[in-house]
Amino acid sequence: MKTLIVCSSKYGSTKVIAGWIAERLGFESLITDVKDAPNPDEFDLVILGFGIYEDRPMPEILDYIDKHIKILEEKKKVIFGVCLDTRGFFVKGKIHGGWEYIRPIIKRFKDSPIHAGVLHGEINPSKLTTNDEKRLMLFYNKMLKRNYTAVPYRTKMNKEEVWTFAERILNKLEGKFY
Ligand SMILES: Cc1cc2nc3c(=O)[nH]c(=O)nc-3n(C[C@H](O)[C@H](O)[C@H](O)COP(=O)(O)O)c2cc1C
Repeated sequence: MKTLIVCSSKYGSTKVIAGWIAERLGFESLITDVKDAPNPDEFDLVILGFGIYEDRPMPEILDYIDKHIKILEEKKKVIFGVCLDTRGFFVKGKIHGGWEYIRPIIKRFKDSPIHAGVLHGEINPSKLTTNDEKRLMLFYNKMLKRNYTAVPYRTKMNKEEVWTFAERILNKLEGKFY
């Protein structure tokens, strides 16, 4: 099954995860940055992966979907968001984070993706732009009331989690429910 994996990634974790998915699927796969992504027409399976920033999917993935929506509607599709808070949380009567992050992408399609999920990424302070570092420090110290002097390195990247996700894709392609 010819597979296209489109990654909208700022710091590379979505791309690493895309590689793990491709490895487990075992199909002929093209992994590409969204800015170089080809028309999905010649592929049998299209996987759309994207980092989450300030509660939202990276906008480039939405641009790609909108540009190719007609073809994508006819394809078998999978989507995955990459972030730190994959579980979500409940504040003032509202659900935030987790699956809520990827809902707008799922909703973009009339013909829903065969599989979707939220996978763990990482924050590596040595890679951050000054602006992102400032935003994170504000988030940690103002919102979460921490007393950090620097952004901590946090990785929750988990190959086993990603392989389980890929195995679910294989199940769904075989017509299984889960
Ligand atoms: C400025 C900034 C904002 C972020 N906002 C969120 C967020 O709202 N929720 C979350 O769970 N993770 C958030 N993250 C963590 C990213 O989703 C995580 O680093 C992810 O692995 C990024 O994927 P990428 O490396 O493919 O770009 C944020 C990270 C940065 C640097």
